Amino acid sequence: MKNLRETFAGRRVLITGDTGFKGSWLSLWLSDLGAETFGFALPPEGETPLFDALGIGELITHHDGDIRNYADFELVMKKVAPELVIHLAAQSLVMRAYKEPKLTIDTNVGGSLNLLEAVRHCDSVKALVFITSDKCYRNKEWVWGYRENDELGGADPYSASKAAAENIFATFHDSFFADRPGFGAASTRAGNVIGGGDWSENRIIPDISRALTSNHPIILRSPNATRPWQHVLEPLSGYLFVARDLLNGGSAGESYNFGPDTNSVMTVKELADEAVRLWGAGEVIAEAPKNAFHEANLLQLNTDKAKINLNWLPVWGVQRSVNETVAWYRDVYAGDTPLSVTRAQIKAFMKDGEL
Ligand SMILES: NC(=O)c1ccc[n+]([C@@H]2O[C@H](COP(=O)([O-])OP(=O)(O)OC[C@H]3O[C@@H](n4cnc5c(N)ncnc54)[C@H](O)[C@@H]3O)[C@@H](O)[C@H]2O)c1
Repeated sequence: MKNLRETFAGRRVLITGDTGFKGSWLSLWLSDLGAETFGFALPPEGETPLFDALGIGELITHHDGDIRNYADFELVMKKVAPELVIHLAAQSLVMRAYKEPKLTIDTNVGGSLNLLEAVRHCDSVKALVFITSDKCYRNKEWVWGYRENDELGGADPYSASKAAAENIFATFHDSFFADRPGFGAASTRAGNVIGGGDWSENRIIPDISRALTSNHPIILRSPNATRPWQHVLEPLSGYLFVARDLLNGGSAGESYNFGPDTNSVMTVKELADEAVRLWGAGEVIAEAPKNAFHEANLLQLNTDKAKINLNWLPVWGVQRSVNETVAWYRDVYAGDTPLSVTRAQIKAFMKDGEL
């Protein structure tokens, strides 16, 4: 089996959502692997976007655009003529989806439909990795990890948008892609990620780092919620493993879960306490939730399929993932450049995982 550099060096790869959190890490990783990397997304958002902090605009060819506009996206696809498409673009925040359900569904369902349609009309594409979420599963609030063939569905607008995107992916596969020679597409479902450089609202690590860097207490919304924490590089490695398999003729029409091992969990409160310990200062205050919106308490994924079919394994456990994440903010706060810290973490991850 070729390693990641041998697989991706020189490949033309288009990432949608390259200006986001996962997209910025993935753009740097692929460009460091020697891929000819292109991006399509809305301009980076927020005061200190990771995309800008890493200088991704100078490392890859980025196109500003709105995936809800089919003609704009198709034009970029035709111009780039990618071999591999990795679809990350989405309205990715559960709480924002309650406030803006139409925007969320237009982007996550309509935008994904536009992507599939553009891939259908673009002959250069040999592989598509279609990213949705662990929230695409109908949440039964049970203790077992969800398997790829469990029921899809979502009670809240974000989850429903991801379940709908999966259904549309499946119909495009069965109706149009299954018989296309030399082409394969697969969907991937991962859970909450942590990692340096995330400054989104209502996500735990950004909330913690904002509090620590400004000497404010960390206020927790759902202190007892358990999340299957994983470093952003873990699902990204999964996406690259799927892409490699697709490019080698495997995994067409499949879906894969990527998540930490089921014993690799911490509550939100334990995560915050650990961050304070690693930072060397800070205070944690656990509060009752302020709004009535429902957010699932427990959601874990079974990753046996990725382990068996793709030989994929998590590289860093929960403790190491938290360490690396807090170290990212600490080192950048102390004056290291985000680019050097992020590059070093990608290198360490590849070495540890022998990728
Ligand atoms: N971060 C997580 O914990 C997590 C967990 C599960 C699934 N996901 C999924 O992974 C993917 C990437 O997540 P992320 O954390 O990087 O999200 P993010 O919010 O940081 O980035 C989203 C990206 O999508 C782009 N985008 C949004 N609307 C667009 C539009 N209309 N047209 C073009 N581009 C648009 C943004 O510009 C940005 O580049 C998303 O599909 C998300 O739902 C993320």
